[in-house]
Amino acid sequence: MSDFRLQPANTLIVGMTGSGKTTFVNQYLLNDEVVACRFLFDDLNRMWPRLRLTPCYTLKDLEASLGTRWSVFQPMRAFGGDTKAAFRWWCQWVFHCATRGPGKKLVVVPELWRHCTEDSIPQELALLAQAGRELNVELVLDTQRPEALNPSITGQSTELVCFRLMSHEALRAVEKLWRDCGVVCTRERVASLPLGSFLAWNRLSGGSLSGRVF
Ligand SMILES: Nc1ncnc2c1ncn2[C@@H]1O[C@H](COP(=O)(O)OP(=O)(O)OP(=O)(O)O)[C@@H](O)[C@H]1O
Ligand SMILES: [Mg+2]
Repeated sequence: MSDFRLQPANTLIVGMTGSGKTTFVNQYLLNDEVVACRFLFDDLNRMWPRLRLTPCYTLKDLEASLGTRWSVFQPMRAFGGDTKAAFRWWCQWVFHCATRGPGKKLVVVPELWRHCTEDSIPQELALLAQAGRELNVELVLDTQRPEALNPSITGQSTELVCFRLMSHEALRAVEKLWRDCGVVCTRERVASLPLGSFLAWNRLSGGSLSGRVF
């Protein structure tokens, strides 16, 4: 029988703006100590100030950050406003890093809706999503738009963490995600979650829990 604990846990965090997603991700990153390296794409400067990290602006910075186990990429200086090119380049670099050694690599992409839609996903990100088992890569993704998720992401997600959602499209999309997880939960319950509170399901174990980050 397979040991589910050995499965890479791709984590998908959904919730409206201000609901607690980034706070959850930060706590998750700080709690998981057995990690070869954490990779963060932070073009919006949402994470590194809160985590008190120094962002990397160049390939040289990125390579040097590996030894600290915290690698945050701020692409503005190297790529200007071309976030798309920056993101693809970074995914490729992370993939390459993941092939270099053993140990868990946590790959964090905030606001995933900016990089993929239901119909399209950068190939480099799809590769990372599929790399889990072989390269020990775990994705930690958050989005306020669960209706704009690509099947290569939802198909690979083992943990679904749901903060408050309000829009009709988002609630409908998240309802479909639960159904796929075999979970029964009403839209009303998600729409009435207090900010900072979440419901989470593990797709592999079938386990669920509720909690709060603030
Ligand atoms: N160091 C901090 N910097 C900014 N906000 C913080 C910080 N610590 C706690 N917060 C609070 O966290 C709440 C927002 O939570 P969080 O940033 O986790 O939400 P989010 O779901 O990621 O929202 P967004 O869509 O804006 O990214 C705000 O009420 C904010 O005041
Ligand atoms: Mg956020």
